[in-house]
Amino acid sequence: MSAAPPGLALSGLRKHFGSQLVLDGVDLTVASGAFAALLGASGSGKTTLLRLIAGFERPDAGSVAIGGRVVEAPGQRVAPEDRRVGFVPQEAALFPHLSVEANVAFGLPRRRRLEAAALLELVGMAPYGRRMPHQLSGGQQQRVALARALAIRPALVLLDEPFSSLDPNLRAAVREEVGRILREAGSTVLLVTHDQDEALSLADVVAVLRRGVVAQCATPRALYGAPADVELACFLGEANVLEGRARAGEVTTVLGAAPCGAPGVLGDGELVEVLVRPEQLRLVAVSDPSAPQESLAAVVERLDYHGHDALVRVRLETENAAPLVARTLGDPGVVAGERVRVWLDGAVRAWPRRAVTTSRAAVSVQD
Ligand SMILES: Nc1ncnc2c1ncn2[C@@H]1O[C@H](COP(=O)(O)OP(=O)(O)OP(=O)(O)O)[C@@H](O)[C@H]1O
Ligand SMILES: [Mg+2]
Repeated sequence: MSAAPPGLALSGLRKHFGSQLVLDGVDLTVASGAFAALLGASGSGKTTLLRLIAGFERPDAGSVAIGGRVVEAPGQRVAPEDRRVGFVPQEAALFPHLSVEANVAFGLPRRRRLEAAALLELVGMAPYGRRMPHQLSGGQQQRVALARALAIRPALVLLDEPFSSLDPNLRAAVREEVGRILREAGSTVLLVTHDQDEALSLADVVAVLRRGVVAQCATPRALYGAPADVELACFLGEANVLEGRARAGEVTTVLGAAPCGAPGVLGDGELVEVLVRPEQLRLVAVSDPSAPQESLAAVVERLDYHGHDALVRVRLETENAAPLVARTLGDPGVVAGERVRVWLDGAVRAWPRRAVTTSRAAVSVQD
């Protein structure tokens, strides 16, 4: 089987602005036709990376290949308009003086003008072809912007936080729709987002940009379930990070012994940092006879009820215990101040303890 060239391949991309080094050797490969999401803190260089790929900025070093064609390398450069990249910026940025139809057809040769109608059909905007952009809702503008990006039959679609200006209800619907459209079009996609749910639910692979490099690129499940380090574990989703000690494929924490997902790399007796996701903690009211024997007594400090689930912050009744956060499905059946029993369910991940520990429980859960 001859492998298709990757849809996008970045190698050693570096970029600085003045004295600030923003990208410090970004390597990233996205399979042809795959949907990749790029996560990273504000200011981590996500937009800069998209602009380098599109050719709006030049890197200091490194290379960009799209569908196997090198478009940026030392001494080699393909102009932005010849890269076959569809770019959907954060604000839909339609031409305000052109109708919806004209926006999508913009830049298309005359013989392909009819395709604009088909693209509007694809994004569910066919009835709005004669409207002007200001007569559309934010979500409708996004869909037109997407149709315009697809009009050039791009090899690669870059989306820079395209759903952030939409309200939550509309956002879920539009992103599902856009995901479907892009999959149908068969394009390779790189989506920048702040929204972790969006990245995890929409993408085949998720890359995290941190301190100028891709810290990890993996499937959503691998990134959430097996993050490369503690910092990534805390960046993505809620995390309890506990101190522990490794021994023979297990780690022991204040919650007792648990099988460890990374045996072999940890020495016997080694001090470790242990990741416990909130949904791995079970809890029941202290009076509930279903609590297993190894469960521990704790007090509910705070409860965040979200309807479909709840985050319950508890403090073990052991001395100096840090708070822990548990996630329950639906109604946890307990209230703040109530005594409960908690226990850990399943295997955990652990890493050798760092010199400067950030071992705080629930680092990413706000007070
Ligand atoms: N043209 C520019 N000139 C100078 N500095 C820039 C320029 N573009 C970006 N930067 C700086 O580079 C850094 C990365 O910016 P960038 O816009 O890529 O971040 P981002 O990850 O997209 O952030 P956000 O999530 O807030 O959109 C920032 O510190 C920014 O100030
Ligand atoms: Mg940005």
